[in-house]
Amino acid sequence: MAAPEDVVKRVSDLRSAIERHNYLYHSLDSPEIPDAEFDHLFNELKEREQQYPELVTSDSPTQRVGSVPLSAFSQVRHELPMLSLDNAFEQADLGDFDRRVKSRLAQEDSVVYSCEPKIDGVAVSLLYQDGALVRGATRGDGTSGEDITANVRTIQAIPLRLLGSDYPRTLEVRGEIYIPKADFMRMNQRAVSEETKTFANPRNAAAGSLRQLDSRLTANRPLTMFCYTVGLVQEGPLPDRHSDILRSLESWGLRINPLIEVVDGIDHCLAYYSRLQDMRDDLDYEIDGVVFKVDRIDLQERLGLLTRTPRWAVAYKFPAEEAVTVLEDVEFQVGRSGVITPVARLKPVTVGGVTISNATLHNADEIDRLGVRLGDRVVVKRAGDVIPKVTQVLPREGSKRARKIKFPIKCPSCGSEVITLPDEVVARCTGGLQCKAQRRESIRHFASRLAMDIEGLGVKLIDQLVQQELIETSADLYHLTLDQLVQLERMAPKSANNLIEALEKSKQTTLPRFIYALGIAEVGESTARSLTQALGSLDSIRMADEERLQQVPDVGPVVARRIFEFFNQDHNKAVIDSLLQSKFTWEELDDSAITNALDGSTFVLTGTLSTMSRGEAREKLQSLGARVSGSVSKKTSVVVAGESAGSKLTKAQELGIEIMDEDRFNEFLKTHGL
Ligand code: IVH
Repeated sequence: MAAPEDVVKRVSDLRSAIERHNYLYHSLDSPEIPDAEFDHLFNELKEREQQYPELVTSDSPTQRVGSVPLSAFSQVRHELPMLSLDNAFEQADLGDFDRRVKSRLAQEDSVVYSCEPKIDGVAVSLLYQDGALVRGATRGDGTSGEDITANVRTIQAIPLRLLGSDYPRTLEVRGEIYIPKADFMRMNQRAVSEETKTFANPRNAAAGSLRQLDSRLTANRPLTMFCYTVGLVQEGPLPDRHSDILRSLESWGLRINPLIEVVDGIDHCLAYYSRLQDMRDDLDYEIDGVVFKVDRIDLQERLGLLTRTPRWAVAYKFPAEEAVTVLEDVEFQVGRSGVITPVARLKPVTVGGVTISNATLHNADEIDRLGVRLGDRVVVKRAGDVIPKVTQVLPREGSKRARKIKFPIKCPSCGSEVITLPDEVVARCTGGLQCKAQRRESIRHFASRLAMDIEGLGVKLIDQLVQQELIETSADLYHLTLDQLVQLERMAPKSANNLIEALEKSKQTTLPRFIYALGIAEVGESTARSLTQALGSLDSIRMADEERLQQVPDVGPVVARRIFEFFNQDHNKAVIDSLLQSKFTWEELDDSAITNALDGSTFVLTGTLSTMSRGEAREKLQSLGARVSGSVSKKTSVVVAGESAGSKLTKAQELGIEIMDEDRFNEFLKTHGL
């Protein structure tokens, strides 16, 4: 039965509506309708198409689910080669680039450049014929790539049909397909729990996802795209500036990076570079530098191309975050709850200006996944302030012998059995408090700055105290005497005195700090504060059953169980009772100071903080209800400026925004109970 006219019209209206909402959602990031309503429209279209299969078109939004697997990708020849970019590594290279451009153009005036983030993903070409997506291809060697049409068709951010009607008949769009950082983390977490392959970084994950012969698999990957230029264009003019071309692409439904700026002169390009470098960690996608392009197309044409790169563009890379070195040894560290973490001892190497000789290998699964052995050449990555990690192993040279890494079956500290629980990836020492490493680590945590903040009680000292069996638990710290302390190695009477005073001082604390200091698995500072707020006193927290605990904001069943178990273990009860005998006093927290005191305010973190990582600072602010943003604007409430803060600080000064240095910031956190 042929479809009635009103159905034909409805199907066409549904498609236009869905395409528009897709565009608003994926390209502009500003949806007009809730997800449920979108799903509703989508389902109606699906049902109508099922009822009248002759109405299905290849560019219908329902056709994004992937299709039958291919046996191989076919090759595609790029009509115009896909070029790469010349790289600048330092400021001087950039000056050279600008001088070359000006001298070729025989102009003295400053040049107008389009400044763009350099997206670290996979370069692709999309071909639109009469507005319909007809082909997607990888860059390959620049001359020919692979036909990945079926795969790109599954990506929501890529329109199957262009919006509007003023596009060229043939339009090849080029850009970068990538996976957002947050989606990448989720994807890897899922892979771990499903025991499938994890990826080393978002770029590999994007490349692997695009290389699937079965596009139904690609459809499930969180791929998206930023477009940054055009290739072949026929029958239909485009604007005469690169930045305006991007605007046109955006109006046709293609996704353009929102941070692209047009500036006059190379000095402004430099300022853009430092702005983006500052924002880098806060962006939801990986960038490895910025790209500057001469904005006027007529000038681009006059400048022309070299063999592989255009003369009108340059990439200014951020300092490398990765380096290659040799894995010399692996040590197994025992954490405070017994978790055993393999730590790579590396031949020292500088990465982004910092010398690295250790990196985490996470756990046994990670060692397997990497296939790493002692003596291997490995890639280490250090991003922002996170612990460096080994991300890749380079191929072993033919005859080279590499020794397998043996995960210990006995705890390296106490010799107890090491076990891996069925639903966990981590291996644990079963020694509990008999294990000196666990003792040391839990006392170290107890004394740490965000916990009881005991000045002068460093790791070495704790280690001595534990080794000499002067203390077994954190409660024993408060029974240490001056006599005992002065007998320790390298302990002058003055330092011993100071330590006793610091211990005394630490007894005046806050309840959240005390709870956090106990080192309950899964209970960080913000959970400790939620517990205090919801339950009021230490006694009520100790007495709460799992059900009551789960009513506390941010406490789910797993955390509730951990807390409940902790407070019901005899050993922990004894430690807490003994601590309480040492007479701790909680400073009363003003309630209004705790509960979302910073609601509605926006903070920007810049520069390096010496007492905490940016991630920690961000978490703390968020736990107080503040928003943490990557860039300074009139809406910013406070800028926290650490060591060598750059352009964000300047901007804040210009705009007259409140600035806190690290000391003030710490004071400020303290007044909020952190
Ligand atoms: S323009 C002729 N713009 O960087 C100019 N490329 O090293 C062609 N890339 O293969 C590229 N972000 O994969 C351009 N905003 C951007 C980019 C960008 C990332 C990648 C692209 C290219 C590589 C060049």
